[in-house]
Amino acid sequence: MPSEISFARGVPSLDIVDVEGLRDAAVRAFANDPAGVTAYGTSIGYPPLRAWIAERHGVEPERVLVTNGSLQADAFLFDHLVRAGDEVVVESPTYDRTLLSLRNRGAHVRAVELELDGIDTSALGRLLAEGAKPTLAHVIPNFQNPAGYTLSADKRKQLVALAREHEFIVLEDDPYGELRFSGEPMPTMVSIDPDHVVYASSFTKTVCPGVRVGYLIGPKDLIAAIVKLATNTYISPNMVSEGLVYEFCIAGALEHSIEVVRTALAERARTLTDALRSELPEAKFVAPEGGYFLWVTLPEGANVAALAEAAAQRSVIFVKGTDFMLDGGDNALRLAYSGVTVAEIREGVARLADAWRSLS
Ligand SMILES: Cc1ncc(COP(=O)(O)O)c(C=O)c1O
Repeated sequence: MPSEISFARGVPSLDIVDVEGLRDAAVRAFANDPAGVTAYGTSIGYPPLRAWIAERHGVEPERVLVTNGSLQADAFLFDHLVRAGDEVVVESPTYDRTLLSLRNRGAHVRAVELELDGIDTSALGRLLAEGAKPTLAHVIPNFQNPAGYTLSADKRKQLVALAREHEFIVLEDDPYGELRFSGEPMPTMVSIDPDHVVYASSFTKTVCPGVRVGYLIGPKDLIAAIVKLATNTYISPNMVSEGLVYEFCIAGALEHSIEVVRTALAERARTLTDALRSELPEAKFVAPEGGYFLWVTLPEGANVAALAEAAAQRSVIFVKGTDFMLDGGDNALRLAYSGVTVAEIREGVARLADAWRSLS
């Protein structure tokens, strides 16, 4: 059996993690603030990191809550806003853990089609006009997981206008925003309307997942309410990790790390799209401008579940499109190119194409 090539997990490969920089930052964190990083700390997060994040986003620190990863931040927001039976809008397809998390809370999930330029705001407008009353709309604006698409500037404005008119909160779930390797950056929705948008991001994709540091930016009263929830949940998040991330950021290592990750992702995305075009011409996709993922659609009627089995027999894994949708997606799949080298991508696509041919 050849060695496994995984296009399944949205994680970075070790070669694009600045292990040495992290180790040095840890040493500085213990040296510079031994009391701060070894104590329980406060539920708002490590105060210097909170202030650093606030300044980077141009907001007051009271609007920021630092958490153990942005998944925790999203969970706090859901706990605060979503009750069983509440309507919540999501993109279709969307991040599988968001779907799971909302379903576990008994939310009435309203999936709205994701177009090449982001969520179909016209369809959402119709849904609202027909009487839908969501408490929340979850949107991944940049290099969406799983599709890799980015919400256009116009649609950002339209979405915020709908949130204002129909009084719901937009959760702008943005772990990939910094990972743009081509095209122009877009304004965040939270900068357009800080009252109707809650922004979540993390250091998972820019530093590494293991630090488990993420954050929320929202209206002060909402953040204050979530701070209580955080206190009751864990007293405080991980101060050692947050102290380390703080030292990493102020030393300029974050900017360096982002550059390394972007450069590697650009090359991997290019390799993947080139390999698919030559080895698997039936695969339709849009070349991403950033982020971790490529969404592939195969011809109507293609059996991606069978393809996944045939690929696994060749030691290649990916996630089926159906995992990201309430229904549909049978002929789609997500390929993550973040955790594989250029050589693995070429070999992985060759095996995938072989698996595809074995089905016909
Ligand atoms: C859209 C989206 N939101 C949230 C997360 C969770 O990230 P974190 O590691 O910050 O908890 C991910 C991770 O893949 C993601 O893709």
